[in-house]
Amino acid sequence: MAQVVTDKFGRPIRDLRISVTDKCNFRCRYCMPKEIFGDDFEFLKREQLLSFDEIERLARIYASLGVKKLRLTGGEPMMRKDLHELIERLTVIEGIEDIGLTTNGLLLKKHGQKLYDAGLRRINISLDAMDDELFGKINDRGIGTSRILEQIEYAIGLGFQIKINMVVQKGLNEQEILPMARYFKNLPVTLRFIEFMDVGNDNGWNFEKVVSKKEILETLQTEFDLEPLDPAYYGEVAKVYKHNDAADSYLGFITSVSESFCSTCTRARLSSDGKFYGCLFAVDGFDIKTLMRDGISDEELTKVLTGVWDKRDDRYSEIRTEITEEMRQKRKKINMSYIGG
Ligand code: GTP
Ligand code: 5AD
Ligand code: SF4
Ligand code: SF4
Repeated sequence: MAQVVTDKFGRPIRDLRISVTDKCNFRCRYCMPKEIFGDDFEFLKREQLLSFDEIERLARIYASLGVKKLRLTGGEPMMRKDLHELIERLTVIEGIEDIGLTTNGLLLKKHGQKLYDAGLRRINISLDAMDDELFGKINDRGIGTSRILEQIEYAIGLGFQIKINMVVQKGLNEQEILPMARYFKNLPVTLRFIEFMDVGNDNGWNFEKVVSKKEILETLQTEFDLEPLDPAYYGEVAKVYKHNDAADSYLGFITSVSESFCSTCTRARLSSDGKFYGCLFAVDGFDIKTLMRDGISDEELTKVLTGVWDKRDDRYSEIRTEITEEMRQKRKKINMSYIGG
């Protein structure tokens, strides 16, 4: 039986987001700009990454503390060799009810079948535009939308449950909101609009670049008849709406900037080099890998990880508007590609 461990604000630990690599085959301007993540950027070396044994061990211990959902992220998680073997090991852990993968989708035709056979059922795919040229600019690898749509179609065919993540930025891809909604309305996937966030330190974020849920919804309502649904479970990240004139067709909004959801945030994050982070916007992590490589027992490690969650007091999205712009800019946050969103 899992114990109930809560943090400083009484939030239980339910989800573990595990980054399996800091590498990516895209260079999205808002996440891994080429100027910083260029040819000479030093990614983590193989031995610095948590091994599958280490990830599995941590997932088991976290499950004993109450974690029910795992999400594998990157960078691009399908760039981690033999990812399907990790999925196989995680699906059999007692207490784990749900495993998801967050990906840019480019390698789905290559790896999707193996991942499905290993037991993966849920995939969230990033796609920021229908327009080929614009999407190629956003990912900065010139990869057109059609390449990703093919992969999505393939993954639907395999039987995956799929969500599409669109990060909306003012002056960049707002005009894509309606084309994206039109395209995905008739497919068995949920499209979610994400407010642009100030993750990391290099993505050129400011409040003016955020398109709020309110604005996105107003745009959508010029064409679609939408009805809000109640949260499906405690701590659900997205606010979900149903298309009234289509069966089983949904849209979602992730409102980290305009309506923060820190008060029900049950998510722990694990970087690919084995540090615990209590928040996507954290500055420092807690090094679990070194403890494991120094030979800590399961019992001791369980105590340590309980203590770390017990002390957690993160609520960055709630304080974003309370702190001054100078304080915000001084804060040296972890990079999105390192922690996986
Ligand atoms: P499911 O609900 O399990 O399908 O996944 P998810 O929406 O939690 O995960 P996904 O990786 O698809 O993330 C979607 C967006 O939500 C990304 O932009 C994430 O960075 C953002 N996100 C997820 N969790 C949090 C969180 O705890 N805080 C903030 N601020 N953003 C989050
Ligand atoms: N703001 C909001 N979402 C972001 N993502 C990456 N960077 C940002 C940002 N600055 C999204 C990706 C992916 C998910 C993990 O996070 O598009 O879908
Ligand atoms: Fe890669 Fe995702 Fe970052 Fe884009 S947002 S560079 S796909 S990790
Ligand atoms: Fe959780 Fe931090 Fe996101 Fe708030 S900002 S919901 S505490 S990860």
